[in-house]
Amino acid sequence: MANVVGLRLSLPLPLPVLGSVCVCSSSTFATTLSRPSTKKLNCKVKGPRRMVLGLGASFFSHFMTMAGAMGSKFFMASAKITGGSSVDELLKNYEWPEQFPFKEEDFQRFDETPDSLFYEAPRFVTHIDDPAIAALTKYYSKVFPPSNTPGVSILDMCSSWVSHFPPGYKQERVVGLGMNEAELKRNPVLTEYAVQDLNVNPKLPFEDNSFDIITNVVSVDYLTKPLDVFKEMSRVLKPGGLAIMSFSNRCFWTKAISIWTSTGDADHVMIVGSYFHYAGGFEPPQVAVDISPNPGRSDPMYIVYSRKLSTA
Ligand SMILES: C[S@@+](CC[C@H](N)C(=O)[O-])C[C@H]1O[C@@H](n2cnc3c(N)ncnc32)[C@H](O)[C@@H]1O
Repeated sequence: MANVVGLRLSLPLPLPVLGSVCVCSSSTFATTLSRPSTKKLNCKVKGPRRMVLGLGASFFSHFMTMAGAMGSKFFMASAKITGGSSVDELLKNYEWPEQFPFKEEDFQRFDETPDSLFYEAPRFVTHIDDPAIAALTKYYSKVFPPSNTPGVSILDMCSSWVSHFPPGYKQERVVGLGMNEAELKRNPVLTEYAVQDLNVNPKLPFEDNSFDIITNVVSVDYLTKPLDVFKEMSRVLKPGGLAIMSFSNRCFWTKAISIWTSTGDADHVMIVGSYFHYAGGFEPPQVAVDISPNPGRSDPMYIVYSRKLSTA
């Protein structure tokens, strides 16, 4: 696979380069997501990976069209992430085009073998660095209901052995849904778990209006049917319930969707925002930009969140 990365790097990069890009693990057997250290800069592929994958149509053209449709107020390639002054504005009053701008090919992956194979062996590792995890935990402690609030239920989607909740945090019901049972079994915050491949079956195995909060940490990029999943999230959230999608700039690139691996952090904010918007049933999505404590030095941590409409 290292050769594949080399091949990618040797390709010309004719399209606009984003301020920040996904730094992705190159191995199908990767245990964790690779870190953006300077030593690994050669793993940073700035450009349209789908050219390599031969998947054709460009994300940029979708968003150029979107930008065009709204009078070219901005183009995301110019969006600056760290420092947080412009990306956090990206979703504010965004006028989305009528149609979901992505196509089937945007959700293809380099590795289309069943996810159950990729996630068969447990990975008892963390996928982002400690400062990024601490920032996420701190964020949760601000927005979560207090520990042990009667009647509160939380769903951690794409869960594993860790959910990054505040230490000792408890609720009556905390469900983890993921691919690896051994990981889920070991997660101390969960009161129950479900093993389900959302790319095979996006229907969440829960009643309507069940959860106060849904979290998804560094995994929204693996969803190949995101609109179906986000519709389901809306269905199972209680009215006013909060969905928090967090991500960094790393991924298992063979398993991440093409539109994600070929774009940068600002685009990822827009992509996740678009899922909320086009799924329906949510308030306009909002973004918390790089909440990590040392932008540029520790892993970035972005949050795109929304509440289920109280009338939905
Ligand atoms: C990078 S790990 C992140 C795990 C955990 N959220 C964390 O923060 O450490 C990706 C997670 O997404 C889950 N996942 C990947 N593909 C999935 C799918 N098709 N359906 C359900 N979960 C999936 C895996 O089980 C895995 O736990």
